[in-house]
Amino acid sequence: MNLATGFLFAWSLRSSLSTPILEVSTDQWRELNASVDGRLHIARPFALPCFSLYKNRSVPEDIEACSAIQANYTSPNFRLESFSANMNVEYETCMSTHSQCLLDTTDPTSPLATTGISCEQGEIPPYYIDISTASDVQEAFKFSKQTQVPLSIKNTGHDYMGRSRRQNSLGLWTHNLQAMSFHPQFVPEQCGDLESQRAITVGAGVTFEQVYAFADDNDAMFVGAYAQSVGVSGGWVMGGGHSVLSPTLGLGVDRVLEIKLVTPDGKLRSANECQNADLFWALRGGGGGTFGVVLESTHRVERRIPLQVINMTFTPTSSNLREYFEILVNTSAEWAALGWGGHVNSAPAGIIYVNPRLSLAQATASMAQLSAFAKANDGTAVIETLPSWYDFFMKFIVEVEAPVGNLLALGSRLIPKANFESGEGRASLVAHLLAQTAARGMPYIPVGTPISFNYTPGTTSVTPAWRDAIWHLASGSSWPYNSTAAQTRGVLGSLHDFVHRNLTALAPNSGAYMNEGDVYESDHEFSYWGPNYPRLLALKQKYDPEGLLDCWRCVGWKGAAEFPCYPKLDT
Ligand SMILES: Cc1cc2nc3c(=O)[nH]c(=O)nc-3n(C[C@H](O)[C@H](O)[C@H](O)COP(=O)(O)OP(=O)(O)OC[C@H]3O[C@@H](n4cnc5c(N)ncnc54)[C@H](O)[C@@H]3O)c2cc1C
Ligand SMILES: *[C@@H]1O[C@H](CO)[C@@H](O)[C@H](O)[C@H]1NC(C)=O
Ligand SMILES: *[C@@H]1O[C@H](CO)[C@@H](O)[C@H](O)[C@H]1NC(C)=O
Ligand SMILES: *[C@@H]1O[C@H](CO)[C@@H](O)[C@H](O)[C@H]1NC(C)=O
Ligand SMILES: *[C@@H]1O[C@H](CO)[C@@H](O)[C@H](O)[C@H]1NC(C)=O
Ligand SMILES: *[C@@H]1O[C@H](CO)[C@@H](O)[C@H](O)[C@H]1NC(C)=O
Ligand SMILES: *[C@@H]1O[C@H](CO)[C@@H](O)[C@H](O)[C@H]1NC(C)=O
Ligand SMILES: *[C@@H]1O[C@H](CO)[C@@H](O)[C@H](O)[C@H]1NC(C)=O
Repeated sequence: MNLATGFLFAWSLRSSLSTPILEVSTDQWRELNASVDGRLHIARPFALPCFSLYKNRSVPEDIEACSAIQANYTSPNFRLESFSANMNVEYETCMSTHSQCLLDTTDPTSPLATTGISCEQGEIPPYYIDISTASDVQEAFKFSKQTQVPLSIKNTGHDYMGRSRRQNSLGLWTHNLQAMSFHPQFVPEQCGDLESQRAITVGAGVTFEQVYAFADDNDAMFVGAYAQSVGVSGGWVMGGGHSVLSPTLGLGVDRVLEIKLVTPDGKLRSANECQNADLFWALRGGGGGTFGVVLESTHRVERRIPLQVINMTFTPTSSNLREYFEILVNTSAEWAALGWGGHVNSAPAGIIYVNPRLSLAQATASMAQLSAFAKANDGTAVIETLPSWYDFFMKFIVEVEAPVGNLLALGSRLIPKANFESGEGRASLVAHLLAQTAARGMPYIPVGTPISFNYTPGTTSVTPAWRDAIWHLASGSSWPYNSTAAQTRGVLGSLHDFVHRNLTALAPNSGAYMNEGDVYESDHEFSYWGPNYPRLLALKQKYDPEGLLDCWRCVGWKGAAEFPCYPKLDT
């Protein structure tokens, strides 16, 4: 369907109670479409082909398309290809009004989810531009300024806070910016005095799975996420970007050398240490969706090197958990200093850690107590050398890729080294882990802080709490697709209480990772950016004076009233 024949002759938009209803005429949409060479599209809910009612009107079911969606409902790579799909599907819905078009994640073929049920638009924008050039973005900013239609930027749709969605916005989809290039001697534009570095440039839509293979082909190692389908250039790098290699090799923000983007004033800019340096600083931690639309980014790479890996699992019981947590807590400062990074996993219980610095013998020695614990507790500990990051990726990331398509939220806190250093700190951390496990299940702990990375202070805008932290201690909650709005509020509310009362109390002066924080993070400005927030806000005002970009708890966020799909928590 196109605009001429569409039923949306005029699109009424009510972005919040405080803004007037705006009308965008068919002609304006047609002009926008012409200005972007026909790349404006109507967005319909991802699972619509499985429904026979859409917005309460009869529509034909598409059995073939529906079976493909059912079969691949939890596949990240399948969802990547659809503008309308998110990885955490509550952001396809409008949670507060229960407007949604979801299948049952636990059984996507269940007819209970679709029979007699109307598929609703949720938070999915009615229109999006499939971005291909800087000019597409410039036209979008112009259109938003003229019509007051808000914008949203989506890359892969992984964001845990739904910041790639905004109801009744014009969506900008950067997924199809797919170029990659390798530079044996990269010098950022206008940085003639800097030493050259080996680097890779990726278009905004490139995912880690793609860049890891490309780097390996070029005798390089790209330091990136423990995930196949997360995008390199969007929320990941702008929000911080942790890797299991970060303890030694830094965060994504530490390794990015240049970002090309269109800022809301319509200018195509290159941001690096030598030009637009203030903007570059803001992009190194200030978050996605805030300072402009990124078209590509360039990152330093390492040589392809062998890595030591430990895969340890055990069977948790009420009598061995304390010892397990004590070993983790007692040894984590030492492991951090040795360059270990990885994840403490909940299912199966255990750890997968990787180390770019030690020999196999050193790696084995540093894990001796934990390995003995595994063997004594119905578990295994395999320590081995893998020839490259790509081998690690294929064995430990691709193989164990988590299914998506759930309604899932996280809460987390960066736990400083100091908590691991005193007897009292260790005891309270162990007590916390036992209580967290009893109440919410085994914790999920990404160990990917840049604790032994040689950081140049002031070069990035993430909270400095990252630099002193050893753990990024997290807990998740998921809930069924057919929950009522009140049930959803209940789940998000108890997660928030846990983060606010329990996790934050462990380290009140620390912070949290903006990409994996609590949706309702209290004092999010301090948690995500610490003392950097005032300067970030000033730069937001400099580069986006009219506030054309806004997202949930982002720098310069205008507040909850602009985002009516996030439920108001029961107090
Ligand atoms: C399964 C899974 C695994 C993960 N693993 C890791 C991990 O190992 N390490 C880690 O650090 N994080 C991880 N994350 C978190 C991840 O970093 C965030 O979800 C991040 O926001 C994803 O960015 P995206 O651009 O891919 O996603 P999106 O949801 O598309 O976008 C996220 C944010 O960035 C903005 N944005 C996207 N593209 C652009 C662009 N081109 N220009 C400007 N703004 C843009 C959006 O507007 C939004 O605000 C994981 C998340 C999931 C769901
Ligand atoms: C935009 O134009 C293209 C090419 O003319 C057309 O295929 C497409 O349907 C149009 N988009 C909308 C939303 O009408
Ligand atoms: C569809 O009908 C339901 C129930 O009558 C109503 O709540 C909802 O607002 C309607 N949706 C649309 C898009 O009209
Ligand atoms: C969807 O899943 C089916 C069955 O698992 C598979 O054969 C098919 O290739 C998938 N489709 C796409 C487009 O990925
Ligand atoms: C890690 O160890 C567990 C327990 O032995 C095993 O089931 C799993 O397959 C291992 N993971 C990999 C990627 O080898
Ligand atoms: C951990 O360290 C404490 C001292 O801080 C000690 O009492 C305890 O036995 C250690 N736990 C283990 C399992 O080694
Ligand atoms: C959270 O803290 C409260 C006290 O403030 C305590 O009663 C509760 O057990 C803790 N819960 C968890 C899961 O740690
Ligand atoms: C959701 O569906 C399940 C059956 O699949 C049912 O048991 C449950 O009661 C439903 N929940 C709500 C809130 O309707």
